[in-house]
Amino acid sequence: MYLGELDLRGVVEIRCGSVVYFGPGSVKRLEGILEYYKKKGIRRVAVVTGRSSYLRSGAWDIIRSIIESLKMEYLHYDGVEPNPTVDHIDEAVARLSPIEPQLVIGIGGGSPLDVSKAVAVLLKYPGENGRRLYSEEFTPLEALPVVAVNLTHGTGSEVDRYAVATIPEERDKSGIGYDCMYPEYSVDDPELTITLDARQTLYTTLDTLNHVIEASTTRIASAYTVMLATETVRLISQYLQKALKDPQDIEARYWLLYASLLGGIAIDCSVVHITHPLEHTISAFKPEVEHGLGLSILLPSVLKVIYPARPKTLATVLAPIIPGLKGDPSETKRVVLSMYEWLGGMGLTQRLSDLGFGENDVPEMVRYLLRSQEGGGSLTLSPVPVTEELISQIYREALYPLK
Ligand SMILES: [Fe+2]
Repeated sequence: MYLGELDLRGVVEIRCGSVVYFGPGSVKRLEGILEYYKKKGIRRVAVVTGRSSYLRSGAWDIIRSIIESLKMEYLHYDGVEPNPTVDHIDEAVARLSPIEPQLVIGIGGGSPLDVSKAVAVLLKYPGENGRRLYSEEFTPLEALPVVAVNLTHGTGSEVDRYAVATIPEERDKSGIGYDCMYPEYSVDDPELTITLDARQTLYTTLDTLNHVIEASTTRIASAYTVMLATETVRLISQYLQKALKDPQDIEARYWLLYASLLGGIAIDCSVVHITHPLEHTISAFKPEVEHGLGLSILLPSVLKVIYPARPKTLATVLAPIIPGLKGDPSETKRVVLSMYEWLGGMGLTQRLSDLGFGENDVPEMVRYLLRSQEGGGSLTLSPVPVTEELISQIYREALYPLK
């Protein structure tokens, strides 16, 4: 196979909205990146991380020594939690402001990278705050430059312009997206992902899977995003089980990380539609629910709705997981059950009722979701009209095992 002729031990450049250094050891490219910023007169750096992955992955030892060897001043905020809120963002800005940073380095999975983008905006707008940013009460036109060091193969945040956060009192977990929020430089180093445990490996990869299933079937999908989706699903099908069996399998990590990069570009171009906003309401209600888990619980019921509307695209995209599809709406039931079984085969058997949700929660979840979509959310990009009844149906089906 021709891919065998590529040198996968080298670092390659992938240019999209960001310049990505991709490959084993690419984290060391931080040195050249920071030297470039230093030449531009940048001396003061804000570092944004979660509590542990930046240490456990080994990224911080390398990055800190690079920052210190270049004699750059830095402040480090290490308090980003999964499913961050606008209050976390304001706290990070308050902690980092004293040195008047000129650059933000985010290190971690989706949450730290998204917070680093929001922080980069708010450090440029000292009178503003996270709540107003996520309520879209002001439109940022500029941000500090962001360097993203990605530590999971799910988010895509290192290559897209989005940042997700929750406004807790409104149970509104939403993404914002502005061109000024693209990381200028990103690092995707597969060696930094081998410390992901089995749960994180599975959930982050399934986040990628959902990115491409949605992006390839929105009303603004393109041949480009269908191509990205097709390759992404092929890679996930080939390498997810390998990474679960052997977390140190660097070849599997390489291709899952590459798949997540493609998925990030796909959602950057063609956005998402149903699964993501419905999941965001789940984790706005219960922030302890992992994003990839919530998405995967919803996925079979979303396929039931979208397969009849995009059968040819999905037959192509899903072929590595569900072979032999002809692209006919009559295959919908088979697609739904096959995806459900494929997920179950990897131990993903939880339903919303197992996470503490019940029938009584559904009307409230629907209400908050619809309110968060006021003014035009991604539900409008669905290939089928999304009604209140349809959302209720998907949530209700996701409560219990599918039959
Ligand atoms: Fe996602």
